[in-house]
Amino acid sequence: MKIIVLNGSPKGDISVTMQYVRYIQKKYPQHELKTINISQNINQIEKDKIVFEGIIREVRESDGILWGFPLYVFAVASQYKRFIELVSERNAVDAFAGKYAAVIATSVKVSDRTAINYMNAVCDDFGMHYVDSFSPHMDDLLQEDVRNNLLMFAQHFFDAIAEKQITAKNFQPISWQPIRYQPEAGFKKLDTTGKKVLVVTDSLENENLKKMIHTFRNSFAQDIELVNLTDIDIKGGCLGCIRCGYNYECVYTGKDGFIDFYNEKILASDVIIFAGTIKDRYLSSLWKKYFDRSFCKTHTPVLDGKQIGVLISGPLSQVPNLREILETYFEYQFANLAGFATDEYKSSRKIDKEIYALAGRVIQLAKQGFKKPKTSLGVGVWKVLRDEIYGNLRFPFVADYNAYEELHVFDSFPQNNVQKLKHNDAMMSMLQDEKIRREIYHNQLTISMISEIKKVVDDPEL
Ligand SMILES: Cc1cc2nc3c(=O)[nH]c(=O)nc-3n(C[C@H](O)[C@H](O)[C@H](O)COP(=O)(O)O)c2cc1C
Repeated sequence: MKIIVLNGSPKGDISVTMQYVRYIQKKYPQHELKTINISQNINQIEKDKIVFEGIIREVRESDGILWGFPLYVFAVASQYKRFIELVSERNAVDAFAGKYAAVIATSVKVSDRTAINYMNAVCDDFGMHYVDSFSPHMDDLLQEDVRNNLLMFAQHFFDAIAEKQITAKNFQPISWQPIRYQPEAGFKKLDTTGKKVLVVTDSLENENLKKMIHTFRNSFAQDIELVNLTDIDIKGGCLGCIRCGYNYECVYTGKDGFIDFYNEKILASDVIIFAGTIKDRYLSSLWKKYFDRSFCKTHTPVLDGKQIGVLISGPLSQVPNLREILETYFEYQFANLAGFATDEYKSSRKIDKEIYALAGRVIQLAKQGFKKPKTSLGVGVWKVLRDEIYGNLRFPFVADYNAYEELHVFDSFPQNNVQKLKHNDAMMSMLQDEKIRREIYHNQLTISMISEIKKVVDDPEL
């Protein structure tokens, strides 16, 4: 059997993910796993049509496709995303249609679900038979049980191909017929009250998005700065080299305009509006490049306290995975996501109102310093990162470790809560007595759960 492995790691052959593939190859010499370095060579693939067509030919002639990639900011790397876009732009989807597909995604287990969902949805859109995914922690190959499960996963994939097994369609096709949005304006102008508001977009070619941005900016009495990412000199996507780990110094520092833009515009704003168009199951690969390159601040939450609004042209309600990626991102960044506005309404007036309401909200929340509590998305990310940066990843992410110390992130380890531990010990010994245990569980437990917080509610001073 011939499997084409599309390698999504910008590091090419020295990718962690590819070691998982090499292990499968070692144990299944009867099958050929041919790896093509997609992300590492994306510039050549995009520029040289012959190279692109050579890859498509390999796909066409294969028995199955293994999408092997590292997680980059809760999805795939921008270079891989660009390849997926090229497949559609160059009408090569038919080479993938009907092929069996599987995913191997390595990560440190921060929101790997959204990356897998993204790839699964792309496979469904391409008409592939999506068999399954395998998503280990990057170091898991060291464990015997993971190695055994990896081989079983590979065997299931080979079996599915050989037996032409039926596979589930996990994602419905997107149906999208937007209206031509015509802003009608006429709202009372809002005051930014001195808050620095920045709109960032990846393109003004989509008329709806362009007009949505206009409506947003036009909602204010003051000029609202707009930055188009295409005007910034961004030499390339994140290379995954981790040079930034020591002191946030990126391999591109001094070589392109991204870092200055990030420091001088993004970090200097109180309110940031992210504006983009849905492309396949995400935004554009340029937007993905922005998120990947913002990894120059590694895992440090640099958007703390900022208000975020998102303007999207496209069927966001049909792509909840994208919504989740963005929600997770801003929670992880300690920012407050004030809301989304899209062009999904069937009337321009409603889109106007939705954007105007968002404009009012971001300013009001910025003035108040409002921040929603994190949901399980942000809490989950933070617990994983706290553990990883304290332990496994302290080296090479020295800058994160220092920042987390300053932010008291490590104080939240349960073993550091001495008072709670003492209380637990006392309770555990009391529970040895059956009479006391019954009294606690039958009569006191639920009341005791509110005893402390009720004091706050009852206190007239608070
Ligand atoms: C820019 C960048 C973004 C990353 N984003 C994530 C992420 O969102 N979630 C996660 O668990 N790991 C993330 N990682 C860690 C990588 O996914 C992980 O180290 C992976 O195993 C690298 O595989 P590779 O060597 O094949 O490229 C990120 C790494 C980089 C460089």
